[in-house]
Amino acid sequence: MTDQPLILGIETSCDETGVGIVRGHTLLADAVASSVEEHARFGGVVPEVASRAHLDAMVPTIERACETAGIRPYDVDAIAVTSGPGLAGALLVGVAAAKALAIGLGKPIYGVNHLAAHVAVDQLEHGALPEPCLAMLVSGGHSSLLRVEDVTVGVEPMGATIDDAAGEAFDKVARLLGLPFPGGPYIDRAAREGHVTIDFPRGLTGRRDLERHRFDFSFSGLKTAVARWVEARERAGEPVPVDDVAASFQEAVCDVLTRKAVDAAVSEGVEDILVGGGVAANSRLRTLCEERAAARGIRVRVPRPGLCTDNGAMVAALGAEMLARGRRPSALDLPADSSLPVTSVLA
Ligand code: KG4
Ligand code: ZN
Repeated sequence: MTDQPLILGIETSCDETGVGIVRGHTLLADAVASSVEEHARFGGVVPEVASRAHLDAMVPTIERACETAGIRPYDVDAIAVTSGPGLAGALLVGVAAAKALAIGLGKPIYGVNHLAAHVAVDQLEHGALPEPCLAMLVSGGHSSLLRVEDVTVGVEPMGATIDDAAGEAFDKVARLLGLPFPGGPYIDRAAREGHVTIDFPRGLTGRRDLERHRFDFSFSGLKTAVARWVEARERAGEPVPVDDVAASFQEAVCDVLTRKAVDAAVSEGVEDILVGGGVAANSRLRTLCEERAAARGIRVRVPRPGLCTDNGAMVAALGAEMLARGRRPSALDLPADSSLPVTSVLA
C-alpha cells in the first residue's frame, strides 16, 4: 500500500475549510472547519466572512489533518487544491496555502475542479470509479448531470440548473417554513413526519421544455409555488402543515432529479449513476434514485453523507488519481478561477 501516492488536498470553495489526506483510495484524514454558523443569521453564505474564516482555519486544519493521518507534511507526494469553481476570495485562500506548501516542500501541485472532485471522492468509499458513468451533482452551489469518461481528463456537462441550485431551493423553502439554515437536513427530517399531500410543479418536465432542456433543471418556480401556497394558508388564518409542505416540496425536487438522471444514464448507455454534493445526503433522493435506477438495470453509488458535503478528502482523492494516472501537475502560477468550467478537470 505504501507505494500508492500520498496526497494532501485543500478545499476552500465555499464555507468549509477542508484538508484531506489520502493514500491511493484510502482515506487517512478528513479535517473540516466550517464557518456555517457565522452565516446562519444571514440565511446564506457571505463571501467576505467565508474568506476570513478560511484564513483563520487554514493552518490549524492542515495541522489537525497531518496529526490524524500520522504523517509529516514532508511525507506527501503532491498537494491538490480546489482551483474553482467557487467564491473567488475563498478559493484564493486555499490556492495560496497550497502554493506555499508546494514551494516550501518542493512537491508538485494539482489545481483541480471542485465538481470533478465531488465525483472522485466516491472511490474512497466504494473503490475504483465506474467509468464511464453518469454523475448527478447536487449541492447549494450546483445541480448538474455530467458524463464522466475519465475523471482526470474529461467531464462532459449534459445538463444543469437554469436558475437555483437544488440545495439553494431546500435552503430557501426551509427559511420560509421557519426552519434553520442550512435547511436541507431540516426539510429531510420534517418530511419524514409528513405526507406528500400537495402537488407542487416539476420544473422543465413539460413536453416543450423537454425538447430544449431535457437534462436541465429549474427550481425557482417550485420555490415560488411553495411560497404562494404558504402565504395563501396564512392569509386564510389556517395553520401551515410544515411537515406535509416539506414532504411535498422534497418529493417534487427528488422526482425531477432522479427522473432526469436515470433518463440521462439510459440515453448515454452507462450502467452506473454516481450521486454527490450536499443534497446527496437527502434520504428520499437516495431511495428514489436507487428504485428508479434499479428498474432500468442501473447501479447507483452514493458516498456517505460526510463525503458528499464539501471536504478536503475529495480534492485529495482526485489528486491521487491524477498522480496514479500520470497526469502532469499544474504550473505554480495556477489561478483561483471562480467560474472554472466543469470541462476543465485540471487548472
Ligand atoms: O456540497 P455542499 O456542502 O456545499 C456546496 O457546495 O454548496 O452542499 C450544501 C447544501 C445545502 O444547501 C444543504 O441544505 C444541502 O446541501 N443539504 C441537504 C441535506 N443535507 C445537506 N439537502 C437536502 N437534504 C439533506 N439531507
Ligand atoms: Zn460542493
